[in-house]
Amino acid sequence: MINPFSLESKTIFVTGASSGIGKAIAIECSKMGAKVIISGRNEERLKETLSNLKGDNHEFVLADLSSKDDLIALHKRLPVLDGLVNCAGLTKVAPFAFATRESFEEVMNVNFFAPTELTRLLVKSKKIPKNGSIVFISSVSGVYCSAVASSIYSSSKGAVNGLVKGVALDLAPRGIRVNSVNPGMIDTDIFSDSTITQDQLNEDMKRYPLGRYGKPEEVAYAVIYLLSDASTWTTGSNILIDGGYTLI
Ligand SMILES: NC(=O)c1ccc[n+]([C@@H]2O[C@H](COP(=O)([O-])OP(=O)(O)OC[C@H]3O[C@@H](n4cnc5c(N)ncnc54)[C@H](OP(=O)(O)O)[C@@H]3O)[C@@H](O)[C@H]2O)c1
Repeated sequence: MINPFSLESKTIFVTGASSGIGKAIAIECSKMGAKVIISGRNEERLKETLSNLKGDNHEFVLADLSSKDDLIALHKRLPVLDGLVNCAGLTKVAPFAFATRESFEEVMNVNFFAPTELTRLLVKSKKIPKNGSIVFISSVSGVYCSAVASSIYSSSKGAVNGLVKGVALDLAPRGIRVNSVNPGMIDTDIFSDSTITQDQLNEDMKRYPLGRYGKPEEVAYAVIYLLSDASTWTTGSNILIDGGYTLI
């Protein structure tokens, strides 16, 4: 039976695959038949992800995306890719008066400059060929809405969505598609280092029409669509996955 969502014979690279959404994307892509190369900084957690991938031809690469040297080494190390998923990211919660330039730079470096530069290096070295698909994990924040004390994070994701439009246009003549997925709150560790409490998260959850936060797999399924041949006429788009959050 033909399955347009199959990733059989595709090589997919996923950043931020040691945790949360990136981990789920790597696992679900492997279930769809892809050879998956995963990246992150934490070797132990990357190996944990690797052990959960279906099949045994997958690899991991350690890289700190805030390091220019690591970015250069990473793009040289990678093979020709059918799909690139820029998922690694972090958040910093601070009221605007305390949102220093240093905080902006820390978040922009990982959320915006690193995926931008990695993508550029891979395109320039022809490691993303015709029919390749590039996916950025953005957010509802900074694109459809924001939240209190989220100016830093929102700025980084707003920039990602602007980038996707521009790069999609530039790479269309090469037959390379570029899209983003924009999730609302997904149940991961992203707020584990912040001052946000579980009580605040529980309160926030009530604002979702579907009554809960999303699951990492629910983002992964949209990414699979964008990586697969099911989406060969989709470029420059944002897929909103938010349990109805931005309806109200
Ligand atoms: N969770 C949400 O509610 C939500 C909603 C919308 C969008 N997103 C976006 O989804 C993406 C994944 O978030 P998540 O919720 O899965 O977060 P997470 O569980 O905290 O995972 C973050 C991932 O990013 C990697 N990472 C962070 N800094 C890095 C660096 N300097 N170099 C290399 N890797 C780095 C981490 O790897 P190591 O720890 O191994 O370094 C980890 O694998 C992010 O872009 C986030 O903005 C999340």
